[in-house]
Amino acid sequence: MSRWNPLDQLKYQVISPLQEAWQAAKITNRYPQLAPVVKAYQALYPYAGASTSVSVNEREARGIEDDTLTYGETRWATFMELLPQLAVSPDDRFIDLGCGTGFLCFMMHAIYGIPATGVDLIQGFIENAEQVRQQLNWSQPRFQQGDFFELSFLPFSLIYATCTCFPDDVMAQLADKLAETEPGTRILTVTDLPEGDHLRLIRRIPAKFSWGPDHVYLSERI
Ligand SMILES: C[S@@+](CC[C@H](N)C(=O)[O-])C[C@H]1O[C@@H](n2cnc3c(N)ncnc32)[C@H](O)[C@@H]1O
Repeated sequence: MSRWNPLDQLKYQVISPLQEAWQAAKITNRYPQLAPVVKAYQALYPYAGASTSVSVNEREARGIEDDTLTYGETRWATFMELLPQLAVSPDDRFIDLGCGTGFLCFMMHAIYGIPATGVDLIQGFIENAEQVRQQLNWSQPRFQQGDFFELSFLPFSLIYATCTCFPDDVMAQLADKLAETEPGTRILTVTDLPEGDHLRLIRRIPAKFSWGPDHVYLSERI
C-alpha cells in the first residue's frame, strides 16, 4: 500500500484547506451576497479534491476516456480579480463553457444580477449546482448537462472557457463556433487563445490557477 509523503500530507491536509478558507473569506468580504452560495459549496465539496472526484468518478463509471474533460478549477479569488477587466453591463449574458461545479456562474449572477448559464458534460456537477440553486430558491443561474459545442452561442455576450486541456483541433472548433456570437461579445479563455479573423485579442492577463500560474486571454468578437 502506498503511503503519502509528509509534504503531500502538509499540502492536502493543511495548506489547501487554509487556501480554501482564505479565498472563501475574501469573496464573502467583498460580496456578502455570495455567503450562502459559499456555505452551500463548502457543504457539497468539503475537502480539497472533492470536486475533482465528482469528475473522475463519473468519467470512470461512464467509461469516458477524453483528456479534454480533465478537471481543474479557476480559483474563486482569481476570477474575482479578473472581473474589473470585463466591464460587465446589466445587459450581459454569461456562459461558462465547461462549468465544473458552476460556482463562477453563481458569482456572475450574484455580483452583477445578470443571467448566467453553466454547461458541463459531467452530470454530477450539474445536479449539484442545480441542488444549490434550488436550496437558495434562486431562479438563476441555469445549468445544463451536455456538450457545449451543441449549444447556440448567440445569446451570450460574455463567454468563459478553461481551455487548458483542449488540443489544437478543439481550439479551432471553438474559434469557429465563436463566429456565431454577436460583435462585441467578450471571450475569456484560460491557457489558450481561439484565433480567427472574427476575433481580436484585447489583453493577456497573468493569473493563478489550481494547477499553477497561467494566463487568461480576453478577446472580442469583431
Ligand atoms: C478545467 S475544468 C473548468 C471548470 C470551471 N469552468 C472552472 O474554471 O472552474 C473544464 C470543464 O469543462 C468540461 N468540458 C470540457 N469539454 C466540454 C464540452 N465539450 N462540453 C461540456 N463540458 C465540457 C469538463 O467536464 C470540465 O468539468
